[in-house]
Amino acid sequence: MDLKLGLIGYPIKHSLSPWIHQQFMDTLGVEGRYDLYESPPEQLGETINQLRDQQLDGFNITVPYKQKIIPYLDELDSDAKEIGAVNTVVQTNGKWKGYNTDGAGYVRSVKQSYPNLFAPNHRVLILGAGGAARGIYRALVHEAFTTVDIANRTLERADDLLDLKTEDVTTNILSFKDAEQALSKYDFIVQTTSVGMKPNVEDQIISLEQLKPNTIVSDIVYQPLLTSFLKDAKQRGGLIHQGHTMLLYQAQLAFRHWSGASVPAQDILIELEKRL
Ligand code: ATR
Repeated sequence: MDLKLGLIGYPIKHSLSPWIHQQFMDTLGVEGRYDLYESPPEQLGETINQLRDQQLDGFNITVPYKQKIIPYLDELDSDAKEIGAVNTVVQTNGKWKGYNTDGAGYVRSVKQSYPNLFAPNHRVLILGAGGAARGIYRALVHEAFTTVDIANRTLERADDLLDLKTEDVTTNILSFKDAEQALSKYDFIVQTTSVGMKPNVEDQIISLEQLKPNTIVSDIVYQPLLTSFLKDAKQRGGLIHQGHTMLLYQAQLAFRHWSGASVPAQDILIELEKRL
């Protein structure tokens, strides 16, 4: 096997995806490459033509093109269709099929550390309602949980996620203020916005004053590895889950689409932490 892979997005110069996929290829003992196709918005069409000419076996799509890529695809997996965003494309006989591995990668990364969390009596709170929240909400309502609430600065935006709700799940939409006050009733809190990301490392989305000890607090931001939000959670007796694990597991699932192989990711995690 000789895999030709890549990533399209903007900006992506500092992406760790080439390194991660190289580790997967090395582990599997296959030849291949994973190149960056950085494309400013005005060059998107051109870059996509380039991807076709290169006859890549597959590629990843990141910000800001996870939705914009859809018109260029020949087929869409049902999950990606429902989420309305694609982060992985597989090429077969010249046809492009789009998938979304973000939500499933996120769930997988949490399960690695907290397998017992996924139980019907555990209440979940998602903070944020953007593209990332959409994939994570969809993945979580398909797990064992029966309450998955959403708090967002703009309440109407949170309502948009309800089209992904499953029958057996209850979802309340909350303001950040209400969420702060009700915090002690949650067992799992997921921060899905970019608040706290470098360079604004002091920013924290909500106060964790009412956090119950042993609540699992997760942040998808991975630069810095330990956000102010997670630091605060730790100090209050929370158990933390860090965002770089999601990066790794969405990549593992993308790589499985391309190679057919499920390459262990746990060994790569320590090295990834050093690089961040
Ligand atoms: P992504 O695709 O990365 O999730 P997005 O779709 O732009 O990005 O969504 C950003 C999310 O972060 C939204 O939930 C947004 O809140 P609004 O819907 O109210 O805009 C949230 N967000 C971004 N900056 C924020 C801030 N400073 N305070 C609170 N929420 C913020």
